[in-house]
Amino acid sequence: MAGRLMRAVVYEGYGGGAAKLKHVEVPIPSPRKDEVLLKMEATSVNPFDWKMQTGRMRENLKVGDKVVSVLSYGGGGGFSEYAVASKDLTVKRPPEVSAAEGAGLPIAGLTALQALTDSARIKLDGTAKPTNILITAASGGVGHYAVQLAKLGNAHVTVTCGARNADFLKSLGADEVLNYNTAQGAALTSPSGKKYDYVIHCTTGIPFSTFEPNLNRNGKVIDLTPGPRTMLNFVFQKFTFSKKQIVPLLVMPKSEKLEYMIELVKEGKLKTIIDSTHPLKKAEDAWEKSIDGHATGKIIVEH
Ligand SMILES: NC(=O)c1ccc[n+]([C@@H]2O[C@H](COP(=O)([O-])OP(=O)(O)OC[C@H]3O[C@@H](n4cnc5c(N)ncnc54)[C@H](OP(=O)(O)O)[C@@H]3O)[C@@H](O)[C@H]2O)c1
Repeated sequence: MAGRLMRAVVYEGYGGGAAKLKHVEVPIPSPRKDEVLLKMEATSVNPFDWKMQTGRMRENLKVGDKVVSVLSYGGGGGFSEYAVASKDLTVKRPPEVSAAEGAGLPIAGLTALQALTDSARIKLDGTAKPTNILITAASGGVGHYAVQLAKLGNAHVTVTCGARNADFLKSLGADEVLNYNTAQGAALTSPSGKKYDYVIHCTTGIPFSTFEPNLNRNGKVIDLTPGPRTMLNFVFQKFTFSKKQIVPLLVMPKSEKLEYMIELVKEGKLKTIIDSTHPLKKAEDAWEKSIDGHATGKIIVEH
């Protein structure tokens, strides 16, 4: 096939919609070892395709722009002077948002947003029906964003945390606070007797049987750290059509959502609470602090 041409429809720059699509002839691509060459019979158009053309998915970045970026999840790269990031997951950072405030958003902030808006169907303009939410480990990196976002969505928020963070979480808007070191806290029972529509479960080691009596009829536990037990329960509850369920969550970063959160920070509606800031040359301290599991907000490494 090498050297032969095929018909294709392409666009060569951002913007212009359908009028800017061009019918051209281009060389038939050569597959690499792990790829196959397809003779196309049908394809479909997804909104993602034309959004890419609008440039919404790839901002026009200039050298020197301040940005917030989701670095390769699992591949890391942030503990270094330079890092490579996908343009599709890199968005501009306005001057009102500091580097440290921005640094908390990519995984922790996006996870909290996804858990609340996609899994718990909270509308952040507050137009959804009132929802009772429990957030476990609300003082942590994910939890402290979840509390603020849930309040933007007019939810009634109960949290679990250690005694030292009770006032901090009330200041972020929590309506009811449970100390996880007390019997009531360990049982997750709402002080006002409310049952939860959703639990944003940011800690580990709590069996579903503890959540179950505290859930409303259709209550769901959104588990951010799903282990084998969660997966088994999830499958079992699906097969038995249980109304109360535990649902695993894995963050799927999206640039629009990152932009949305940056805007909330810029407008003063969302805060990144910084537990501690460590210079890169002392990255070990930040690592230890995170392993220790007692951060209040986000642990930041500055370069
Ligand atoms: N699914 C995903 O895509 C995804 C994405 C991001 C994170 N995660 C997971 O989400 C979990 C939370 O992450 P994170 O960054 O928020 O953790 P974190 O910042 O390390 O959480 C620390 C906080 O948890 C509190 N805590 C510890 N045990 C607790 C308990 N039994 N009850 C109530 N509070 C407790 C601590 O309070 P004290 O100091 O008072 O003990 C501390 O304030 C982690 O397991 C992480 O792996 C998942």
